[in-house]
Amino acid sequence: MGNELVQLTLANCAPPAVIPATAETHPAAGLVPETALRQAPRVATPGKLQTFYIETFGCQMNVHDSEKVQGLLLARGMTPVEDHAQADLVLYNTCSIREKAAQKVFSRLGAFRKQNNGRRKVIGVLGCVAQQEGERFFERAPQVSLVCGSASYSKLPGLLDQLEAGNRRVSGLSLDTDECFETEVTRRDNPFRAYLTIIEGCDQRCSFCVVPMTRGPQRSRPSDKILDEARRLADEGYSEIQLLGQIVNAWQDPSPTRAGFVELLSRVAEIPGIRRVRFTTSHPRFFGPDIVQAIDSHPALCDQIHLPVQSGSSAVLARMLRGYTREEYLERIASIRKARRAISISTDIIVGFCGETREDFEQTLSLMREVEYDQVFSFKYSRRPNTPAEASGDALDEEEKGRRLAELQELQRQIQLRRNQALLGQDFEVLVEGYQPRLGQAVGRSTTNRVINFPGRLDDVGHYLTVKVTGAGPNSLLGVRL
Ligand code: 5AD
Repeated sequence: MGNELVQLTLANCAPPAVIPATAETHPAAGLVPETALRQAPRVATPGKLQTFYIETFGCQMNVHDSEKVQGLLLARGMTPVEDHAQADLVLYNTCSIREKAAQKVFSRLGAFRKQNNGRRKVIGVLGCVAQQEGERFFERAPQVSLVCGSASYSKLPGLLDQLEAGNRRVSGLSLDTDECFETEVTRRDNPFRAYLTIIEGCDQRCSFCVVPMTRGPQRSRPSDKILDEARRLADEGYSEIQLLGQIVNAWQDPSPTRAGFVELLSRVAEIPGIRRVRFTTSHPRFFGPDIVQAIDSHPALCDQIHLPVQSGSSAVLARMLRGYTREEYLERIASIRKARRAISISTDIIVGFCGETREDFEQTLSLMREVEYDQVFSFKYSRRPNTPAEASGDALDEEEKGRRLAELQELQRQIQLRRNQALLGQDFEVLVEGYQPRLGQAVGRSTTNRVINFPGRLDDVGHYLTVKVTGAGPNSLLGVRL
């Protein structure tokens, strides 16, 4: 799911994440000066790496990968620190979905200080930019000693051993894998909602998207491992599980049962103690009415579906290689609207894809009016390396993309406001996720993923409460506890 339009109300009072996030960015973001490239980096054996700091950019998959990497590092006896200056090992888990996201790591590296109390600090780059740049990273940023893509995270302990033994540069970049990243320990940062990976990588070739090149081939995790982990999470007190995958609904059990996604959903939903199950991201191509039927028959399956459409124009969808037309997408929506429960629907939309005409864009707006999404994550098209659309050029200038994006977002703001106002007076069960002492307000989420603020207390956090909606804005609701 896109991450640009996070609900501010919730982000402001979410429980503190253990993975520290710094706000500083270096103004001279980008490439390392050429002089630095010519000087061989000084080598000093870092010795035992004792402390670490991870900064994560991008999607929930990255957030959860960082949680698993933290688990690996803790199992190695390392200690997390709040400040990157204090860390022997600094890891950046990167995102390359759009150019702006990919630049962030170079901005951080520009601000990097080589020394750490007289010892060499080890800098590592993980994730999609690591995979995309590969060993070129060492030339672009000589201070980097470790480059590792997500398909190679199980090799991280060995790579760190090599660094401790004095190796200057180590990498894990193979995409040739049929395995998922399994860890004994995962250090989860949200005390209520646990992410749980069920499928990794992507075999689609959407023409705009870099993910198949950065996350490797699609591979499903065996159901017994998923169910064991889900049961363990329930035992640890988690009541909400979010199943993750680039294309979560393409999951198929690799073990002989060959069970499909809907069966897995039902089995996770039946685990005692699990009250809410969400899943993201679904691809319309693999979205059948059986998913809606499963939601109807299992109260624990949340009334929420994220179904990225990307464009409302069949011509653009064909050029994007999405594998469905506007009409086929709308059939999926119709099946969701037939559910017994009112399921909220969110989507991702790209504006200004190569050759998008004003008429194409109008079709996206008309689709939005027709579907009336509860939330839309919208992005300007960003040309990405090695994607099928890379060579098609970038027909629209940034200003026109910006105008279309603003128009789309204004339409969606009105739709959301209208939809939220229609909820006035209704009652919702919320899981309370945060508390703002300054305002005396608690904040929770409904099963439809709506954010509701209401007068509350710190010890409401972590509880399920019923709240009546008394006010509505485009992005969140106000309520009172019943
Ligand atoms: N440019 C802009 N947006 C993109 N997305 C994926 N690739 C690109 C790109 N090259 C968006 C899609 C996807 C979301 C996670 O990011 O909408 O669903």
